[in-house]
Amino acid sequence: MKTYLCTYCKTFVYDEAAGEPRAYLDAGITFENVPEDWRCPVCGQPKSYWKEISRVEFEEKKEKYDALFPLSTVARKTGGAEKDIPQIRDKAREMLAGLCAANKVCDGNPDRLCMGIKYGRPIGFGGTGQGRTFDANFKALEKYKFKMRVVKEHKEPAFATKFLGKVIPMPVMVSSISGTKLSMNNSMPEADFQRGMIEGAKLFGTIGLSGNTVDFPDHPGIEIIKENGGWGIPVFKPQSQERLLKLFKRAEEADVFAIAVDLDGFGSTNWAYRGKPVFRKSEKDLRELVSATSKPVIFKGIMDIEDAKIAVAVGAKAIDISNHGGRVLDYGQGVAEVLPLIVKELKGKVTIMTDGAVRTGFDVLKLLALGADIVLIGREMARMSLAGGAKAVAKYLEFVKSDLRLAMLMTGCDTLEEITDKILIKE
Ligand SMILES: Cc1cc2nc3c(=O)[nH]c(=O)nc-3n(C[C@H](O)[C@H](O)[C@H](O)COP(=O)(O)O)c2cc1C
Repeated sequence: MKTYLCTYCKTFVYDEAAGEPRAYLDAGITFENVPEDWRCPVCGQPKSYWKEISRVEFEEKKEKYDALFPLSTVARKTGGAEKDIPQIRDKAREMLAGLCAANKVCDGNPDRLCMGIKYGRPIGFGGTGQGRTFDANFKALEKYKFKMRVVKEHKEPAFATKFLGKVIPMPVMVSSISGTKLSMNNSMPEADFQRGMIEGAKLFGTIGLSGNTVDFPDHPGIEIIKENGGWGIPVFKPQSQERLLKLFKRAEEADVFAIAVDLDGFGSTNWAYRGKPVFRKSEKDLRELVSATSKPVIFKGIMDIEDAKIAVAVGAKAIDISNHGGRVLDYGQGVAEVLPLIVKELKGKVTIMTDGAVRTGFDVLKLLALGADIVLIGREMARMSLAGGAKAVAKYLEFVKSDLRLAMLMTGCDTLEEITDKILIKE
């Protein structure tokens, strides 16, 4: 069995001995007869750029390469980064008729379809009330522009990273979305949708979070994550403490990778619509949840430094700076407004995740530059899972990766460490 390195980007390695490439070999394709149009899935160079490397060299860098193997799989299975995304978007538009126009720019503009005032009704894909918080997420990101830097020795950007000890190919994960019945025209069974999100993230090599809908308070995502070897994170709504502790136990038995609670979820219009109770949680409640499990606990839905400090004090391993995509409070701040304040005080003390209006790798780079360790994508992933399942989710992540790579190249960033607010200008 031979191992090859792409000499152009020096990141992609084709290993004949690895699981998925072997499936490729089963189809009768070996390195020697790789089709001429087959490209390095990281940088796009043809196979003439690949050179054989020794096992010793491979083993030395194995951890990084392990994170990159799924990329090769994705490229083969999906046929490239951006191909087909417009068609998937068209299908999502049909499935979400009346709720979401699957616009190319999904910005929470108050005049858009998703922004019909939703008080007392299921919320669809929009934001709550007049959608001002959804809008604020978009506008807060839009205020930042990049400084372009082009004079520097050419180097392929490296963006594999670790999340709570696991290597992932880039600091981007799939956010927790739920509610096909109330929010997505009942266009697909909830479990199938959740499977697309979790398995799509896994296919790409990153991690998917799985949301908790009022129609399935017991969370179908737990079983799906279990079937996927624990590779996923169930996010529980802040139900009663008693129910939450039971759900934590089930998640732990399923050996999920980490457990999360969306603390802002008690503002969910959909749970209120169905008359199901969700609650604010006290510091004591949070402490009890963290000590009830050996799994890392993540608190999602934090928008204030005092809340963030409490989450860290009770032992959360990660916090997600998020306002639920503007779905729980109208006239709230955008995440990019709040993130720098929290980063200033807590960077390095806890893993800082964030989400809100992220659509492309350029958006990802802005939030990384503002200090986030991990960026989550919500609505775009949901549209992909609905209309194209796991493959489409992975394909969209490929698209995000190609933008992130370009954005890093054009701002002079070779590594994640070099991404700081120095690459940004705020208008
Ligand atoms: C239809 C829909 C359902 C959602 N369901 C959940 C959920 O069950 N749990 C959760 O933590 N967040 C949920 N969210 C919020 C997302 O996880 C995420 O915070 C938000 O969508 C990020 O913003 P973006 O969609 O603009 O990327 C939901 C969002 C949408 C649009």
